[in-house]
Amino acid sequence: MGTVSVAMSPAYKPRALNRKRVPGMSKQDDVSTEPAARRREKRQPHSHHTRNPLLSAVLAQLLGALAAGGLALAFFPPSFVQPLAIAALQGSCALVAAWRLRARAWWLPIHLVFMPLVVLARGMDLPSWLWASGFLLLLLIFWRTDTSQVPLYLTNRKSRYAVLSVLPATPCRVIDLGCGDGALLRHLARSRPDCTFVGFEHAPLTWAWARLSTHGLANVDIRRGDFWTHPLAGYDLVYAFLSPAPMARLWAKARAEMSPGARLVSNSFVVPEQAPLAVVDVDDKRRTRLNIYIGASLPG
Ligand SMILES: C[S@@+](CC[C@H](N)C(=O)[O-])C[C@H]1O[C@@H](n2cnc3c(N)ncnc32)[C@H](O)[C@@H]1O
Repeated sequence: MGTVSVAMSPAYKPRALNRKRVPGMSKQDDVSTEPAARRREKRQPHSHHTRNPLLSAVLAQLLGALAAGGLALAFFPPSFVQPLAIAALQGSCALVAAWRLRARAWWLPIHLVFMPLVVLARGMDLPSWLWASGFLLLLLIFWRTDTSQVPLYLTNRKSRYAVLSVLPATPCRVIDLGCGDGALLRHLARSRPDCTFVGFEHAPLTWAWARLSTHGLANVDIRRGDFWTHPLAGYDLVYAFLSPAPMARLWAKARAEMSPGARLVSNSFVVPEQAPLAVVDVDDKRRTRLNIYIGASLPG
């Protein structure tokens, strides 16, 4: 078994709202760094522009094409009108359009290079089935990331041990909201045969892999579907490794459905306007933090 270094943040005086202690956690575990949590919230603003990023991206590309076409007709001699040059112009215009549409910063380089890459790829003369297969594979793994705004990335090895360390000491029920490839649940289920683990996953290929790889573990139940439709009552610990986008919605669901005293553990992402009751700092390269909240027992 690998070692895990789980460091607790230095204690701070919790706000009156969050004065409750995680049952089973020692006094020094009842920690957080409210200023740090607030800084993180600011770095993860919940923007209304992220509601349909795919639609915004298509719009930016179309506006980029219109602007590039107009500019080329108005200002450039026909000799300039090479596919790659036009694509580069379109990319620059799409970047500006995306910026004006207030897309997140990481979209901007994608807009810049998208059309030039399409032109270059066409020049490679690859068979069309290759593109179709690539698209299908990405679809089966990432599914509706455009609407969920939660892509696939996995809880790393050290963080798995950290999650294990925050499970209640007594037999418990745990759910992983969007369980990905099931590696976390496999690890937890082997380490805690006294507990039962449920994983929800909507991406078909990821779900199939999680299901196959947990086959034979009697205390794991991997289900295909949308975790938003699954009630959280009856779970002692709800684990989520999602993204900033759904955190407010998750908090509302947790408060409405989780049993009093049950723990909500969010890897990396914080609930807006809510300082976590405890934060577990994982000694890994990406400096993972597990933010721990208590479900229904806190006032909103
Ligand atoms: C960041 S990954 C985390 C995977 C896993 N929990 C882990 O920690 O290793 C999030 C996963 O949630 C899945 N997901 C996102 N929204 C979902 C939803 N509404 N219902 C079910 N799965 C969802 C994604 O497909 C992705 O596999």
